[in-house]
Amino acid sequence: MPRIQHPSAVVASCALAMATLALPFQLQAQDAAPALKDLMPPGILIGAAINQRQSDGVDAAGVAIVTRQFNATTPENLLKFQLVHPAADRFAFDAQDRYVAFGEAHGMTVIGHNLVWHQQTPAWVFAGENGAPADRDTLLARMREHITTVVGRYRGRIHGWDVVNEALAEDGTLRDSPWRRGIGDDYVARAFELAHAADPDAELYYNEYNLWKPEKRAGAIRLVQDLRRQGLRVDAIGVQGHWSLETPTMDEIEAIVRDLQAAGIKAMLSELDINLLPPTPDLQGLDAAARAEAIAKTNPYANGLPDAVQQKLADRYADIFRMVLRHRDEFRRVTFWGVSDGDSWLNRGRMNYPLLWDRQHQPKPAFDAVVRVLEGR
Ligand code: G3I
Repeated sequence: MPRIQHPSAVVASCALAMATLALPFQLQAQDAAPALKDLMPPGILIGAAINQRQSDGVDAAGVAIVTRQFNATTPENLLKFQLVHPAADRFAFDAQDRYVAFGEAHGMTVIGHNLVWHQQTPAWVFAGENGAPADRDTLLARMREHITTVVGRYRGRIHGWDVVNEALAEDGTLRDSPWRRGIGDDYVARAFELAHAADPDAELYYNEYNLWKPEKRAGAIRLVQDLRRQGLRVDAIGVQGHWSLETPTMDEIEAIVRDLQAAGIKAMLSELDINLLPPTPDLQGLDAAARAEAIAKTNPYANGLPDAVQQKLADRYADIFRMVLRHRDEFRRVTFWGVSDGDSWLNRGRMNYPLLWDRQHQPKPAFDAVVRVLEGR
């Protein structure tokens, strides 16, 4: 007697069949596309930040893009303090080990992000006795254990580390971070010192955003020069590159490169994406309906990106890559902060389109534009 399937099982098996039919086609389309890693000038890596679904191989379409297109990878979240060292007596290395193994299996340069940051660090790190903040010695000991354990575990396998992330205020002075409050201004130096001791061959970076602002850029250069004067290793500054269509201007971006070059500091675009949306609305104190309305008002492309904006995005990426080529001796790496638009942190409940691949993992006009620039067309 024929077995009668429940309708939901039929739908599920049809969906699975369609997915398995669609995937090879997508993979073939990827295989036919030119690969960015083959087009970059020698000496400049091209990378993407990947999420756990990608390093675990769950997002097959994302993995196909990453392995075909890129020769460097950064973990979007996995190696941040909170995920790798959630409790004083506990490290979490399962998914992190798989991230490193993923990069190695695909012959990629594996980057670590990040060791010392004021965000995504659990509260216990900064807590002292009886509700007081941790004192200098306690915080230094926690920093030492964290860096020594994490960098040491991947010694010789993680090629370069974002050692300190976003330590500066917008005016270029050290920001008021709990690391600084607890340890003092030398916390940055101590982090670089510990990272170097844990893996003397690893490259070490200072990573920062908004470096198009002259005061902040001057602060970053001062910081790195000061570290180097103390004999500490700093290989490059990561210029994050969370930019919009029109700001910063190409002149402002070019000024970053010019100033770093004059200071003898190599540059990496470490977190490149282009935000197409207006600023996120302030949702504090709003009820669910009011929140939904505020989001809808600042979500102009909820039903798709108009061709004209798609073209502007392509032009913006073309300008950025032309700039990279003009300064090919200065740049060491360009890393996108995400793979396809659906992955991006810039969505946050809205529809953003900041990357080179769309939500269906198809290359966008921006991808073609970057390819044309890299091919010299
Ligand atoms: O994994 C949890 C999930 O279990 C939970 O249900 C969910 C609820 O909010 O949160 C999930 O964690 C989120 C995580 O991303 C993974 O998606 C965190 O809330 C969220 O805060 C976190 O955001 C990350 C953000 O850093 C944290 O500040 C973004 O993915 C990541 O792209 C972003 O990356 C930073 C760089 O590290 C430094 N430079 C700026 C850049 C963009 O903000």
